[in-house]
Parts: sequence; C-alpha cells; structure tokens
Amino acid sequence: MVDSKIQELRAKKVEAKLGGGEERIARQHAKGRMTAHERLELLLDKGSFREIDVFVTHNSNDFGLGEQRILGDGVVTGYGTINGRLVYVYSQDFTVFGGSVSQTHAAKICKIMDMAMRNGAPIIGLNDSGGARIQEGVMALAGYAEIFYRNVIASGVVPQISLIMGPCAGGAVYSPAITDFVVMVKDTSHMFVTGPDVIKAVTHEDVTFEELGGASVHSSKSGVSHFAAENEEDALFLVQQLVGYFPSNNMDDAPVLANQDDPLRQDSELNTIIPDSPNKPYDMKGVIKRIVDDGQFLEVHEHWAANVLVGFARLGGRSVGIVANQPAFLAGVLDTDASQKAARFVRFCDAFNIPLVVLEDVPGFMPGLNQEHGGIIRHGAKLLFAFAEATVPKVTVIVRKAYGGAYCVMNPRHLQADLVFAWPSAEIAVMGPDGAVNVIFRRELTQADDPAVRKTELVDEYRTRFANPYVAASAGFIDNVIEPHETRPRLINALEMLRNKQATLPPKKHGNIPL
Ligand code: HXC
Repeated sequence: MVDSKIQELRAKKVEAKLGGGEERIARQHAKGRMTAHERLELLLDKGSFREIDVFVTHNSNDFGLGEQRILGDGVVTGYGTINGRLVYVYSQDFTVFGGSVSQTHAAKICKIMDMAMRNGAPIIGLNDSGGARIQEGVMALAGYAEIFYRNVIASGVVPQISLIMGPCAGGAVYSPAITDFVVMVKDTSHMFVTGPDVIKAVTHEDVTFEELGGASVHSSKSGVSHFAAENEEDALFLVQQLVGYFPSNNMDDAPVLANQDDPLRQDSELNTIIPDSPNKPYDMKGVIKRIVDDGQFLEVHEHWAANVLVGFARLGGRSVGIVANQPAFLAGVLDTDASQKAARFVRFCDAFNIPLVVLEDVPGFMPGLNQEHGGIIRHGAKLLFAFAEATVPKVTVIVRKAYGGAYCVMNPRHLQADLVFAWPSAEIAVMGPDGAVNVIFRRELTQADDPAVRKTELVDEYRTRFANPYVAASAGFIDNVIEPHETRPRLINALEMLRNKQATLPPKKHGNIPL
C-alpha cells in the first residue's frame, strides 16, 4: 500500500472528527455541551465504539450548501458496547449545520436503526439538533419521517432511548416521543414543537426556552421526559444504568446481575412501616428499598405524577418493573397523569419480558371536575388495559388500601395477576368505611337519636367486616396473607416459580387501548 493513501485516509478521519471546526467546538464547550464524539466516549465501554458512514456527505446544492460538504454530515453513527453488551448509537453533531437533519443525515440514522432491528440490540439516540435542515426543504422532512417510521416499527422489538442534549425543535421531538425513555439535561436541553417566537405570534404568550420546554418542565409537568439529569455526564451514566435492566430485544431476557443481597433476607422494619392510622401517609419508596436487591431502585418519572411510583429494580439478581402507589403524595390516589405514567411503564415491561411487581396502597381514583373533564375515565382505562394485557409474570402485594375501581385496576387476580399477596394491614372494599356508611346508612343516620354515635358504630362495623384481607382471601382473590418482613423472599420465590410462565393473548392485529 502506498503510504500516501494511508495518510490520506488518516487525514480524512481527522477532518471528519473535527465536524464543523475548532471554533464551533469551542462554542459548544462554552455552552456546557460536549461534542458528539466526546459523548459517545463517555457512554460506551472504552475503545468499543465502531463508527460507520464517516464519509457520508449531503447531496444538496441549494442555498450555498454545495460549498459546504462536511464529512459525516452532522451525525456520528455506529455501534459499541455498554458493560459488554451491544448497542447501536447515533450522536448528532451540533457543530455541523446545528446538527440539523438532512436527507443523508437521516439515512445514516435509519441505517443503524435497521441494523439494530436485524441484530436485536438497543438504539440510543443522542439528540442535539436545530431540526430539519432548512435549506433542504422536503428532502429533510422526508428523512425525519423515515426515522419516525423506524421508531414505530422498532417499538417493542428493541429498547429505544433518547438523550436530549441540546435543542430539539419542531417535528424532531416526535422521534424521541416514540422511544421508550427520554433523558433530558437540565439547563442545556429543550424540546418543543413550536418555539417562543411562533408562540408569541400566534397566542401572544411570552415564554422562555426553559419555561417552554426545559428539562424541569418536561420531567414534572408534561411527562415527556422520564429523567432530568444534572449534566451531560450524569445523563450518560444514567443511560448506562438503565439499559442494564433491559434485555437486548423482545426475544431475550434481561441480564442477571449477581449480588450479595441474600434472597432469603427478611426485614423486620417492614412490620412497623405502615402507620396505625389508615389516613396517615408513609413513603412507599422506603418499602421498595427494603425489599429489592441492595436497596437499588431506579425510579422512572420521579417528578411527574408522584402519586404513583414506577421504576426498575432487581430481585434475586433479575430485573423487575415496580409499580407502586405512593401514599406520601396525594394519598396515592390514581389520577389522569398517574394512570398514564403507570400504563406506559407496564407496557414497556411487558414488551421486554420484565416481570411486574405491584405494591398497592390506593384510596381510589381522584374525584373532581378537573379529573373527569380531563378524561380520568379514558386514562384510568389505559392502566387497566395495560395490566390486563400484560403476559409477563405479574405479582401484587396489597400493603394497605385497595379501594373501589382502583382495586380492579391495580393488577388484581381478576386481571390475571399470577399471585396476589396481602399484608395483614390490607383493607379491601368498595370505598373507605366513612364514605361507605354515609351512602348505605344515609336514611338510618338521619333517623338515629344520636347520628354521630350511630355513625361511629356503623363505621366500626364496616371496618371490622372489610378493613382486612380475609374476606378477599376467603374468596381466593388473595393467594396468601403474609407478614411484611417476609415480602422479599416471598417475591423472589414467586418470580422463580413463574420463570417459565407461558401466556398468550388471542390472535389479533392489535388491541385498541383507549389512547
Ligand atoms: C440548517 C441550521 C438549523 C437548521 C441551526 N442551523 N438550525 N442550519 N437548518 N434547522 C445552523 C445555524 O445556521 C448555525 O450555522 C448553526 O446551526 C448554529 O445555530 P445558531 O443559531 O448559531 O445556534 P444557537 O444560537 O445555539 O441556536 C440554536 C437553535 C437555532 C435554537 C436550534 O439555530 C434555531 O432556532 N434553529 C432553527 C430551528 C428550527 O426552526 N428548525 C426547524 C424546525 S421544523 P453556522 O454556520 O452559523 O454555525 C422541523 C420540521 C421537522 O424540524 C419535521 C419533522 C416532522
């Protein structure tokens, strides 16, 4: 080989790595953002990244583009490993036309998506882009639509994660929205369909980028983002943790992670964690952490709809998805946001063979005009639908309240839960004793000599009858009443028993979840 040819190749690779040039890289750094390559170096195992399509350039000549062909065309694509497991990645390079998506830029992303699908490994997208490359017009739009199509087809086949590490504007937000998890970076990333200027012109609202689509807004108000990381390093580290809970594809099982936490470990603190008063809150995260391996719970959507908790943990080294009511926030009531949050999580776990563990303490659905007009019927139905449809192992532990419609929704036996346990503190009824007495004894109470005294008697009577797990257990709706301290070994044993569960739904094109 002539040495000059090797020199030429090396020079081209150096040129490609520089993207839009030193000056733009310095500008990117000054904004607290890394370059596309720097991010991949942190995300992937050292030395594992293999880039493809380094030499791709755009093929447009409009608006002066002919004079600006930059190797790679604004996106770095390829594959590598995270903790030794294969992942496909694309990382947009903001230094090249603001990371904007041209037809060829999109084709590069589509190519690695196709490879990920064929070879059964997760797709991780690092987004940092001004949206469609304006000079290319419909060619850029076509490129986006090709990406969206692949996101949809890959959904439920390989896990898809989007990191938002800069602007993400216009239709560009819809690719991340389709993916399973969105991770934003505080202060430096934004997502919106239309920006502040357009909003000002159309609705006359004054809004900043941060108020409109910053990480805090999307992880607490809209629910678009599942995580808000403090900085880029934290975001990349979080993604490394997250994929560790997932199988590589829907035909696989999640990796088993050996740990020192004894599967037979009992925790006596759990016996006293539920307050004596049924209306007193407590933190369900404390319950989760006492049960799972090493107390490690990777919470998803921590700041949105905090009345329900969802996230990943391990039991006996195996991944589980946890759905739990949170009595410490709005008494753990189910509302529109909580229902949607939990339903989407359940569907992810079911698509990727991750067993579901439900910890239940729910006083019911949230009453109110806002909720009814906001579609609590439609959204609550999503959760019910998701649990019913899930065929992964499903185990429920009723730790305290399981009232009304919420009992029917939170993975009861009747929706084909595989095992339902209850703690002795469980209360299972159509509604709380106070409300129940007001309805069924209304006439008697108005006629009573001393309505207050009579009401106390009736409430006590109702509580004695229903505020326990034994009526449900006598009907076989609960498989066993267990002591709280033995919950961990019980769950590990249950999941072990369910390891080879076979369950299928009747053949159909797809169900029609009430979206
Ligand atoms: C081409 C673009 C671009 C774009 C930015 N650039 N966005 N080039 N197409 N969409 C270029 C700029 O010309 C500039 O080039 C460089 O990227 C950096 O941009 P700046 O504006 O200097 O950076 P900054 O101040 O950080 O602002 C970033 C920004 C802003 C907020 C993203 O650039 C912006 O508002 N861009 C347009 C966003 C937009 O409206 N996109 C279209 C959305 S519609 P130089 O050479 O100076 O470095 C859409 C449709 C998708 O995406 C449809 C799918 C369904």
